Amino acid sequence: MCGIVAYIGSKPARGLLLEGLKRLEYRGYDSAGVAMLNGGMHVARTMGRVSGLEELVHKDEQFNGTIGIAHTRWATHGEPSERNAHPQGDDAKNGYGIQVVHNGIIENYSSLKQYLKDKGHAFTSETDTEVLAHLIGELYDGDLETAVQSALREVTGAYAIAVLCEKEPDVMVVARKGSPLIVGVGKDEYVVSSDSSAIVAHTTQAFLLDDETVARLTRDSFRTTTVENVELTPEIQELEYTLEQIELGDFEHFMLKEIYEQPATLRICMQGRVDAVDGKIILGGVADFEEDLAKAKRVLLLGQGTALHAAMIGEYLFEGLAGIPTEVEFASEFRYRNPIVEEGTIAIAVSQSGETADTYAAIQEAKRRGAMTLGAVNVVGSTISRETDAGVYLRVGPEIGVASTKAFIGQVAVLTMLATYVGRRHHLAGEDMLDALNSLEQIPDHIETVLKQSDHILKVTRGVVNRDNWLFLGRGTNYPVALEGALKLKEISYIHAEGMPAAEMKHGPISLIDKGMPVVIVATKGSQYEKVIGNMEEVRSRGGHVIAVATEGDSEIQSHCDDVIFVPDVPEPLQPLLTVVPLQLIAYHAAVLRGKDVDKPRNLAKSVTVE
Ligand code: AGP
Repeated sequence: MCGIVAYIGSKPARGLLLEGLKRLEYRGYDSAGVAMLNGGMHVARTMGRVSGLEELVHKDEQFNGTIGIAHTRWATHGEPSERNAHPQGDDAKNGYGIQVVHNGIIENYSSLKQYLKDKGHAFTSETDTEVLAHLIGELYDGDLETAVQSALREVTGAYAIAVLCEKEPDVMVVARKGSPLIVGVGKDEYVVSSDSSAIVAHTTQAFLLDDETVARLTRDSFRTTTVENVELTPEIQELEYTLEQIELGDFEHFMLKEIYEQPATLRICMQGRVDAVDGKIILGGVADFEEDLAKAKRVLLLGQGTALHAAMIGEYLFEGLAGIPTEVEFASEFRYRNPIVEEGTIAIAVSQSGETADTYAAIQEAKRRGAMTLGAVNVVGSTISRETDAGVYLRVGPEIGVASTKAFIGQVAVLTMLATYVGRRHHLAGEDMLDALNSLEQIPDHIETVLKQSDHILKVTRGVVNRDNWLFLGRGTNYPVALEGALKLKEISYIHAEGMPAAEMKHGPISLIDKGMPVVIVATKGSQYEKVIGNMEEVRSRGGHVIAVATEGDSEIQSHCDDVIFVPDVPEPLQPLLTVVPLQLIAYHAAVLRGKDVDKPRNLAKSVTVE
């Protein structure tokens, strides 16, 4: 996914656009660019970071205008390069000085490109976005809004765009379908962005563009229509995030800030929802569907990446706490299979951004096949949250670090509350409920206890950080935690790591183990503790270096491992909310020790809005 920010008003736009791009850089950082109208159209693009673009334009008077569009890219069509950076323009020779920034994918771009080539258009990049700019130029007849509407009726795929035209120096046109776009409403000015982080510094009033909606902005007015030119009246609402929430504060990286925010965000996530006194879970977002949930025959959990790992823990929780047959699926696989969705199926989309294309399409498919759909999503008003019948927001605040941490804790907590809520309407006894809720309420304090060991975890990590292959093992609900630990390490330190059920190791991967190979094993007290100890001994007998995550007070564990990180003792179903934290910190410290860019790891983007 990419980041778009655009401005029309009376303030000098250059600084505002560059600041906005920096806030959006976690969405993609392959290249950056800006187009500004200021006595003509001025365009600057650069390979790599926004800082490079800043160097290009910060002294250039041409970029002193009060209307501009800007972009930071995550490459899909065409390698990262200046040529493929946005903005992309229409035909240089016969065009109208149209510039477009785009987030998404124009799926039918090659047939459109051929059609335009046959009409004499000459292209300079490999991007689908340039094709859209040329198409708008081809259809331009003196009115940019109409040309954009006509062009968008020809394209298939996903788009969030901002468009300028040299012939109309006081007009900006923006539109969206599938990819997010928010219009911030100020006094005689508009700040448009892919998410609220580039808007909240300027206004907290905004409206979200719906799918296939176009907005024409001038300095003192806006008009929204469908691509068929049907006029619309958007609802202007208060933006959810505050400026300080998206600031780094005293932390070196957003990932570390978000790891340390977990106790507080988990308290907010549970606030008003967990009543450990009366043994109740209150979930306003699904209350209207209480009957459907009580009659649920099957639960389907869908997600990608870290969200999928949280969903895998959800499978244990729904079967364990609610006694309902539950499946978890890679959304990207589910959407192309011929999934059988019987009556009484509840399909839950798990997603931080609420914009992940595969998860969005999978939940649409489940809905099309008759499932009742729920969202466990963080971003309010996101595409998935608007697609599902109901849902529970994670309320963990903006997550800016590309490697997801507090959202994982939020996703597991929401699935725990949902499973308990449904369980109470199935088989879960009152007293078990009370125990579970009392323990759940103590988790934030326990996470604080684990965070106090960061220096110890740094020491443990330093001992093995030069090893290039790691294994992560766990059993039960700690198996997905092992997967998550491996993913975090891979994402930000580029160390190859594999997570798996501890018992699976003997069926092949054990051959990887040589002297000193780091093997992180989640070995907290529980129903499979003895089995895990056995697995630890299998690893050590092959010379592996065992780092154990164990339960406070476990005096035996030290004799079975090289390093141990203790976490407070909690009931087994809740252990993932604690055992994942040391693994987040191991990954963080390893990336810092290896000098990696923790918040913007190579080749990644915060959420993947394209297939
Ligand atoms: C996790 O650290 C990654 N950023 C990635 O795996 C992410 O979890 C995945 O892309 C799903 O994103 P979502 O939760 O926004 O849907």
